[in-house]
Amino acid sequence: MAEVVSLMDIDEDDNHQKQNNSQKLNKGKGLVTAADTKPTPWVEKYRPQSLADVAAHRDIVDTIDRLTSENRLPHLLLYGPPGTGKTSTILAVARKLYGSQYRNMILELNASDDRGIDVVRQQIQDFASTQSFSFGAKSSVKLILLDEADAMTKDAQFALRRVIEKYTKNTRFALICNHVNKIIPALQSRCTRFRFAPLDPIHVTERLKHVIQAERLDVPDCGLAALVRLSNGDMRKALNILQSTHMASQKITEEAVYLCTGNPLPKDIEQISYWLLNESFAESFKRVSETKTRKGLALIDIVREVTMFVFKIKMPSDVRVQLINDLADIEYRLSFGCNDKLQLGSLIAIFTKARSSLVAAVK
Ligand SMILES: Nc1ncnc2c1ncn2[C@@H]1O[C@H](COP(=O)(O)OP(=O)(O)OP(=O)(O)O)[C@@H](O)[C@H]1O
Ligand SMILES: [Mg+2]
Repeated sequence: MAEVVSLMDIDEDDNHQKQNNSQKLNKGKGLVTAADTKPTPWVEKYRPQSLADVAAHRDIVDTIDRLTSENRLPHLLLYGPPGTGKTSTILAVARKLYGSQYRNMILELNASDDRGIDVVRQQIQDFASTQSFSFGAKSSVKLILLDEADAMTKDAQFALRRVIEKYTKNTRFALICNHVNKIIPALQSRCTRFRFAPLDPIHVTERLKHVIQAERLDVPDCGLAALVRLSNGDMRKALNILQSTHMASQKITEEAVYLCTGNPLPKDIEQISYWLLNESFAESFKRVSETKTRKGLALIDIVREVTMFVFKIKMPSDVRVQLINDLADIEYRLSFGCNDKLQLGSLIAIFTKARSSLVAAVK
């Protein structure tokens, strides 16, 4: 419940007057701590408050909105990669259903709580079996949010099957997870499933523009494009990169974004690829090592970006296939913490091999 309470504090604040309001709130409580004066992370400050604010997933959000309005909400199972709006959507549903009664009507359990069978037997059963007094709330059906449900033990999931059926009359369950295959089929079949896919670049751009405007930031187009590219459809990541880059530099240019995240710049990758494809082994090794040290790049990031570069350049498909396969092997070895220098040697070696194949193909 602790998270719900803290979210409620955010909920009660107008986002744009957050600091003033929280000062007033603190005065009332007489509790001013050092943490209260810190700026709020933008991921929480700009968490969608209503279903209309949720970017992308229009079909899903509209369906859930309609079901909520008609008071016909089924048990829900929301799944998908991180930072795509699953928790935000369900919290917005709770806000819509209960208004100010929010805290009394929902039980939120997430990965920070115990997720064993005892929780199902005690906490969940107790909450589900008690009668709810919903003063003024639009719905008298209570909501149990099981966030990060893929972390629940199998025993707890089996125990939940019967609980869901038994209390359907006055309780709805909303399960949220990243990996749907970790939820037992019996639970999946009791819920209506919705998949939250990674956000597409248009929606990430739109939402970022909204935050940029609200915070009055100086972000040229190249910086915005870099944020969208590096976020890979994860809105939380996009907002976190935006905020940390803003703290590091006034103007959020492409270079500032890449420097802040430690990712290699596209022009560095182009340069490295040029050396790999044209220079001798010794020369490539010297230059790539030097760039890597000077710019503080990780070899694994270079390998990933060079792979994307290989997709873009023109070469016979058999050479490309072999090259990508070899690059994948290097990435695999690096993820196990193998020696960086040896793997850099291997990277240059596979390009040398690819060059010989290219020459042979021309002959
Ligand atoms: N669809 C979206 N529209 C607007 N903002 C979003 C959206 N998705 C994510 N965000 C932003 O990212 C933050 C995290 O989103 P949320 O907690 O809903 O992600 P999640 O899907 O539950 O991720 P996880 O699987 O990691 O729990 C939100 O506070 C919000 O600022
Ligand atoms: Mg979540």
